[in-house]
Amino acid sequence: MLRVVVLISGTGSNLRAFLEGCDSGSIPATVVAVGADVNAAGLEYASSRGIPTFVEPLNAGDDRAAWGDRLADAIAAHDPDLVILSGFMRLVPPAVVSRFSPMLLNTHPAYLPEFPGAHGVRDAFEAGVSETGASVIVVDNGVDTGPILAQRRVPILPTDTVESLHDRIKPVERELLAEVVRDIAARFTATTH
Ligand code: GAR
Repeated sequence: MLRVVVLISGTGSNLRAFLEGCDSGSIPATVVAVGADVNAAGLEYASSRGIPTFVEPLNAGDDRAAWGDRLADAIAAHDPDLVILSGFMRLVPPAVVSRFSPMLLNTHPAYLPEFPGAHGVRDAFEAGVSETGASVIVVDNGVDTGPILAQRRVPILPTDTVESLHDRIKPVERELLAEVVRDIAARFTATTH
């Protein structure tokens, strides 16, 4: 079973869907820890399921490189095969990228390279385009610039708000992530057995 550490910053609804996929057997992975940069609501859900959690905050004035080392060590302590950013809203520090990429994935609520960054849904909505999408990428040192592993278009409806659009993108992100992790797990099994 693929050992996965998930990093979040928010509610963790995609994390919850990922865990449900692991429970049902549709995603051949085990979430061995959930980490965050803040006291994210999703941590409570992970704890309630008995999953170890950790928080590595980056406070104003902190040394970013030292934070990167702490975060990389906290992840490594759980010996993951794969690390997934699921609504982790910080630029990943180089220490984490160098230690875990390419087994370091991010889900993004836009059709990259369109609308990278922290406000992918709002930026697409405000741009007035007729469609946006969802992407799963390998994390590199840029802002959503890593290799694209899967992506799908999502139309923007005339009746949409930023929130309703995001609510329709999230299920697509979840499907794409499940597909990518299934694919990685299959390759992983083939090379380790
Ligand atoms: C997801 O849509 C994820 O793609 C996005 O944050 C949301 C987290 O939702 N991440 C980014 O925008 C990263 N640039 P959740 O906390 O409900 O799972």
